[in-house]
Amino acid sequence: MALSPPDLSLAGQHALVQGASRGIGRASAEALAALGARVSLVARNESRLREAASSLPPAPDGEHRFLSLDLDDTPTLRARVQDHVEAHGPVTIVVNNSGGPPAGPIHSAQPEEFITAIARHVIASQVVAQLTVPGMKEAGYGRIVNVISTSVYEPIPNLGVSNTTRGAMASWAKTLSKELGPFGITVNSVLPGFTDTERLGSLIAGRAEKAEKSPEEIADGMRGLIPLGRFATPREIGDVVAFLASPAASYISGVSLPVDGGRLNSI
Ligand SMILES: NC(=O)c1ccc[n+]([C@@H]2O[C@H](COP(=O)([O-])OP(=O)(O)OC[C@H]3O[C@@H](n4cnc5c(N)ncnc54)[C@H](OP(=O)(O)O)[C@@H]3O)[C@@H](O)[C@H]2O)c1
Repeated sequence: MALSPPDLSLAGQHALVQGASRGIGRASAEALAALGARVSLVARNESRLREAASSLPPAPDGEHRFLSLDLDDTPTLRARVQDHVEAHGPVTIVVNNSGGPPAGPIHSAQPEEFITAIARHVIASQVVAQLTVPGMKEAGYGRIVNVISTSVYEPIPNLGVSNTTRGAMASWAKTLSKELGPFGITVNSVLPGFTDTERLGSLIAGRAEKAEKSPEEIADGMRGLIPLGRFATPREIGDVVAFLASPAASYISGVSLPVDGGRLNSI
C-alpha cells in the first residue's frame, strides 16, 4: 500500500483570522486559504480587508469574507462575531492575532495601557473562543492558534506592557488547551521572532530615534542576534499557523512555538 502524504487539507474548514488586514495575520489568512479553508478576516481597516479577502485563492466551499471592527471594543466584537457565525456557519479554526501594544518601559506604563492591551489580546481571544468552540465541538474539528511573541520566554527590553500581556495570553492558551483537549480541539501559540511587517518597521524606527542611530544600523544589529541572519517573512510565520491548524498537527496541543530563526537562548 502506498504511504499517504501528511494531511494538510483544510477543505471544508472555516477560519476566522484576527488582525488579518496586513502583516502576520494576512499571511496566515493566505496560508490557510492556500490549504483550502474558507477565511473570515477581521481588522479595522475596511479597504485593506476587502483587498486582502479578494486576493485569496477561491475557497472550494464558499466565499471569503471580512468583518471590519475594533478588537478593543468587546461588546461590538461579541455581537459581530455572533452574527457572523449565525449567518455564515460555525468557525472551526481561530487565529488570535492583533496589533502589539506600544513600546515603553514597564515602570512608567499607565494602568489604562495594560487594560487596553489585555482587552485586545486576552479578552478578545476569550470572547471569540466562547462563540466558536461550540461549533468546533459540533463539527468534530477545532484549532485555536494564537500569534504571541518570543517574549513569552524572554522578555524584550522596552516592551513592558507587551511582555506582560504576552505572558497572560500564553497562560490563557495553555489552560484552554487542557480543557478542550478531550473534545479533540487543539490550542497552540506561535511566537514570531523579528518579522518583516509594519509593526517591526515602527519598532525599529522607535529604537533608532532613541539611540540616535539610523534605522538601518538598528536593523543590522537585530539581524546580528539571529542565527539565520535575517528577519522572517510574514509568510514564514503564516505557514506555521496553517500547519498547526491542519489535520497533520492533530497531536500538538498546549505548545508555545518560537519561530524566530534560532534567536532565543532558552531551550
Ligand atoms: N513583526 C514582528 O516582528 C513581531 C514579532 C513578535 C510578535 N509580533 C506580534 O505579532 C502580532 C502581529 O504582528 P504584525 O507584525 O503582523 O503586526 P502589524 O503589521 O501591526 O499588523 C497588526 C494587524 O492587527 C490589526 N489590528 C491592530 N489593532 C487592532 C484592533 N484594535 N482591532 C482589530 N484589528 C487590529 C491590524 O489591522 P488594522 O489596522 O486594519 O486594524 C493589522 O491587520 C502582533 O501582536 C505583534 O506584536 C510581531
